[in-house]
Amino acid sequence: MATRHFLTLLDLSPEELHYLIQRAITIKNRLLAQGPTYSPFTNRTLAMIFEKSSTRTRVSFETAMAQFGGHALFLSPRDTQLGRGEPIEDTARVLSEMVDAVMIRTFSHEGLEAFAAASSVPVINALSDDYHPCQLLADIMTWTELRGSVKGRTAVWVGDGNNMCHSWINAALQFDFQLHICCPEGYEPRRDIMEAAGDRITLSHDPQRAMAGADLVTTDVWASMGQEKEQARREADFAGFQVNEALLDRARPDVLFLHCLPAHRGEEISETLLDDPRAVVWQEAGNRLHAQKALIEFLLLGRIGG
Ligand code: CP
Ligand code: NVA
Repeated sequence: MATRHFLTLLDLSPEELHYLIQRAITIKNRLLAQGPTYSPFTNRTLAMIFEKSSTRTRVSFETAMAQFGGHALFLSPRDTQLGRGEPIEDTARVLSEMVDAVMIRTFSHEGLEAFAAASSVPVINALSDDYHPCQLLADIMTWTELRGSVKGRTAVWVGDGNNMCHSWINAALQFDFQLHICCPEGYEPRRDIMEAAGDRITLSHDPQRAMAGADLVTTDVWASMGQEKEQARREADFAGFQVNEALLDRARPDVLFLHCLPAHRGEEISETLLDDPRAVVWQEAGNRLHAQKALIEFLLLGRIGG
């Protein structure tokens, strides 16, 4: 069977994604009830290549491997031959000889695709300039845990049409919900990604009006990793796009607020929004661990329980 990779949410079928969300919830409940007693990854190794910084992603993947009885290797370009120009395809072939799966956080999505094409073990996108699919597994898991099926619901993305936004667009297609994207002019997501999701996606530039009917509101930093030099210009361009308590008051009374984190308090969110009961970002962050376990288990062992 061909090696399965997880570079975007479109690499799995909607049915497989639903399985992963339910499996992640099962794995979480079992951990809470019984502790880390399930060790399906004994003697399995995950290589983790980080070309950008990370807190949640590194800790969740590393902890997932440890709790499941396996091992994770942290590899940074500074300490490996990747940083000295060894081709990524050669690195992929070498790692495929030794480890069971590879997780990569990088800049170029095309580079990630080239790595995956040369790899004979599963490759997981742990964030590229274009997508962050692992975060969406935790986000949809959190939304599902708290509100049941997301099918037919309405999410609103406020802010930059960035990697997180692109993965939200993929999620709207795969999980069949409406996504309204509200961004400053000039910061729209990629047109081809939006068009692939069809009429599930709408776009506007007025955050106040965008909140009408929102079951879920989410945002992200205005300047992503790699865009640090654009920070000042973006702060000016995104004025009026802060998500705060007053903006959420315009959404449905039972609205949830998600943020992949890290957040810049006082910029894309108010200083106090993460303390608002509608914000469920700590549960969302914690769910990275359980979603990661379900994903690696699926890629290495296939479905558990039929
Ligand atoms: N949300 C997320 O991916 O966080 P890190 O950058 O800390 O991994
Ligand atoms: N859009 C952000 C997400 C960080 C988890 C970035 O790429 O920096």
